[in-house]
Amino acid sequence: MEKLKYYTKENIGEKVSINGWVSRVRNLGGLVFIDLRNRTGIMQVVVRPENEYYDLASSLKSEYVIHVEGTIVERESKNANMATGDIEVETEKLELINKSKDIPFMITNDTTALEDTRLKYRYLDLRREYLKENFVIRNKITFATRKFFNELDFLEVETPVLCKSTPEGARDYLVPSRVNKGKFYALPQSPQIYKQLLMVSGFERYFQIAKCFRDEDLRADRQPEFTQIDVEMSFVDEEEVMKVGEQLVARIFKEVKGIDIPLPLMKMKYDDAINRYGSDKPDLRFGMEIEDISSIFKNTEFSVFKTILEENGIINAIVVKNAAEKYSRKDLDKLTDFVKTYKAPGLAYLKFQEEVSGSIAKVVKEEELKELKENLKIETGDLVLIISGKKEIVKTSLGALRCKIARDLNLIKQGDYKLLWVVDFPSFEWSEEENRYMACHHPFTSPKDEDVDKLLTDKAHCYSKAYDIVINGYEAGGGSIRIHDEKVQETMFKALELTEKDIEEKFGFFVDALKYGCPPHGGFAMGLDRLTMLLAETENIRDVIAFPKTASASDLMCDCPSSVDEKQLKELGLKIN
Ligand code: AMO
Repeated sequence: MEKLKYYTKENIGEKVSINGWVSRVRNLGGLVFIDLRNRTGIMQVVVRPENEYYDLASSLKSEYVIHVEGTIVERESKNANMATGDIEVETEKLELINKSKDIPFMITNDTTALEDTRLKYRYLDLRREYLKENFVIRNKITFATRKFFNELDFLEVETPVLCKSTPEGARDYLVPSRVNKGKFYALPQSPQIYKQLLMVSGFERYFQIAKCFRDEDLRADRQPEFTQIDVEMSFVDEEEVMKVGEQLVARIFKEVKGIDIPLPLMKMKYDDAINRYGSDKPDLRFGMEIEDISSIFKNTEFSVFKTILEENGIINAIVVKNAAEKYSRKDLDKLTDFVKTYKAPGLAYLKFQEEVSGSIAKVVKEEELKELKENLKIETGDLVLIISGKKEIVKTSLGALRCKIARDLNLIKQGDYKLLWVVDFPSFEWSEEENRYMACHHPFTSPKDEDVDKLLTDKAHCYSKAYDIVINGYEAGGGSIRIHDEKVQETMFKALELTEKDIEEKFGFFVDALKYGCPPHGGFAMGLDRLTMLLAETENIRDVIAFPKTASASDLMCDCPSSVDEKQLKELGLKIN
């Protein structure tokens, strides 16, 4: 295939034979100029009035498929915005291969067409160079991944897509069985159980580029079907697994973007990430760490702070450097509305200018201000934003606020990457919905050795051998060392309040496998779509998936999900209510 965008002045005089689509055709001063686009770029083709193909060239329209033969020549008027802007093809032969209907939107990188329209005609949307580039990146990532694991003696093994539905985690996508009426398969949320069983089988080092399916609320970085680079290893500890994980990521960054990622990556404990950044996926590309200022106000007379401290709440702040002037009263009201969406009761602020002003300037004592200034290293011109209340709400809302402000004030350098491991996750998290402790990762995650005895008695203080790799505020991957001891696994199931019957029905086969000489093992899974988003520098996961779903999990192009024939339902023994 010709590589259009790599043609330069160096190629002047060369004969070319190219196929592609008419991106644009113009008639300027009697000359017909065609922008011919294919997967490899765009090239201007010129057809002069005396050319035998002139009439054909004049009749071309956008998205017609053509074949051109000719010679590369230097352009008279150059276009610095185009990779091939110095040259063009002087036509010697032009052939119309196929026509196109009028297109529903212009196929340009900066299209203003609604995303729904583009998704309906995704095959046209994918003609855009911007989107194509993302798939070049995605392909480079999977290629680098396969090379990496082959060099390290990992086996790529495929695992089933029709699986057993198991509780915990997100909701399953279910598939009814025709042969076994009334019974269902589930699509895998991840190959977790299978990869652990492969370790029991002695495969020792497994990887797979695996499709996963989760019926959960969708966000800009979440799709109902997505792809993981899934890995499992035997006879390893956390350090060894994390080493492979970070080497993989570093290799991908190097091969895809030529970026050197210094290893080993820094590690941050989960509790520290929450305290300092209000998130288990902290974005370290900018400062604005969350500061606990509760102790400064221990003797406060300001009733709001006083009550909160009496109720075991906290007072935390972030300092926005040099921003006192940048935020008007109205802007600060907007920030207040923003933090309220995270359940924060309100947002207090102080502007340190020649004088100190702000919503709580009058109720903060002189010595409190002095201590604030010293502890938080506040300088003239800084803005201090304060939230008080329950710890979880304060941390989460300030965490979100620091990210919003960094975006609003353009504090993030394009092309900057900050990677880290978040480690020592809690084993359990409290679910208000279920009114019980749930597994923070999944029920097969090993607790820290020192916490095994606490699994049934002190769940709030059990930590696990789990780790997440975080890049620029995204959870790019995660994993853990698994439980390989059947007794510990049974205790874990009990801690999750699964009944004997549940355990037997849902995981019986798995618990049984642990009894047949299960090696110590652990692994991780990287989100391939998220890695591609990061390297393609897009915040929209749909930009890196060829045929994605909308936020309501539908495919607008195929109009799916869709109804099925009564006959199909009958065969499956199903009735729609
Ligand atoms: P986890 O659930 O953390 O771990 O998933 C691993 C990685 O997959 C990506 N990811 C997603 N990407 C797009 N859309 C989604 N809906 C979505 N959900 C997850 C994230 C995430 O870090 N079996 C374990 C891994 C293990 O323990 O080895 C697992 O699936 O980047």
